[in-house]
Amino acid sequence: MKITTLFVAITSLVLALTVGNLVVADSHAESAKPSESLATDVNTTQVSTQTGGVETPENVIGDPQQTADPAPEKLDQASIVPQSDEDKAKGVEVWGNIYKVLSHPRCVNCHVEDDRPRWSGKQYGKTQLHGMYVHATATRVGMPGQQMCSTCHAKTNSDVPHGPPGAEVWALAPPEMVWWGKSSDELCAIVKDPAKTGGRDITAFADHIGHDPLVAWGWEPGIGREPAPFSADETVAMLEQWLALGLPCPE
Ligand code: HEC
Ligand code: HEC
Repeated sequence: MKITTLFVAITSLVLALTVGNLVVADSHAESAKPSESLATDVNTTQVSTQTGGVETPENVIGDPQQTADPAPEKLDQASIVPQSDEDKAKGVEVWGNIYKVLSHPRCVNCHVEDDRPRWSGKQYGKTQLHGMYVHATATRVGMPGQQMCSTCHAKTNSDVPHGPPGAEVWALAPPEMVWWGKSSDELCAIVKDPAKTGGRDITAFADHIGHDPLVAWGWEPGIGREPAPFSADETVAMLEQWLALGLPCPE
């Protein structure tokens, strides 16, 4: 009699632990998924698995980005200044055109601090929060298991007016990359501050513009939407020119 009770107790304990583990593993899998679309998170994960969490001098100094992308050393942007007044004036002018791209509705609608994508630009009439109660949440891709961006945003644009636009990935930019509502001088300081660019220097920033499918969407936004000005290649060239002129910001 006693042994049976003990047996039952142990069996239920084992069962409870197994179920508990399954639940934990499951919710982990779910929460890990959305963040995989953000390169920064992926890089961080790679670093910790590769080093096993042990901090040798190399990984302390080593830059997480370099593990996945053997990029050259980061620019020391604080020390880059125009070499002449002429360079400064020309550089500020070049920045003005870069600002036209970065502050365009096709870009800033996703680069917001809160978790509400914006509907702004000519085709929307007035600027508004994304309809249908869309919240990106901390995942930046919607509520896990409920309404995700990909529920509506496919990998290509809808060909129906006011249908959901689409790209390879569709996510709200991380909250530190806030461009919405920023003036030219504010945004200039932001793109030069690695704390607000996910650690990217201007070279890596330009590279993202040249290669990211989501950025490319800004120039192929689908029916009814006006594309961002210039082109991705021209924007990359402007960023290179701005760098060569000492990265001046308007005052
Ligand atoms: C219920 C469907 C649905 C969901 C879920 C959804 N969207 Fe949308 N989204 C749309 C539709 C439809 C439009 C186009 C509206 C229009 O053109 O009038 C749109 C437009 C947008 C735009 C504006 C694009 C532009 O510049 O014109 C952004 C930005 C956007 N969505 C981001 C997101 C993000 C980020 C998520 C996930 C957090 C998301 N959406 C989830 C349906 C959805
Ligand atoms: C649908 C949402 C969305 C739209 C539209 C969008 N972005 Fe982004 N953007 C993101 C996300 C998400 C990231 C983070 C990607 C990462 O870090 O890998 C990002 C990151 C960036 C970065 C890297 C920023 C940094 O500070 O390091 C640049 C540059 C960028 N976007 C440029 C643009 C430009 C230019 C446009 C318009 C032509 C644009 N984006 C439109 C979602 C968007």
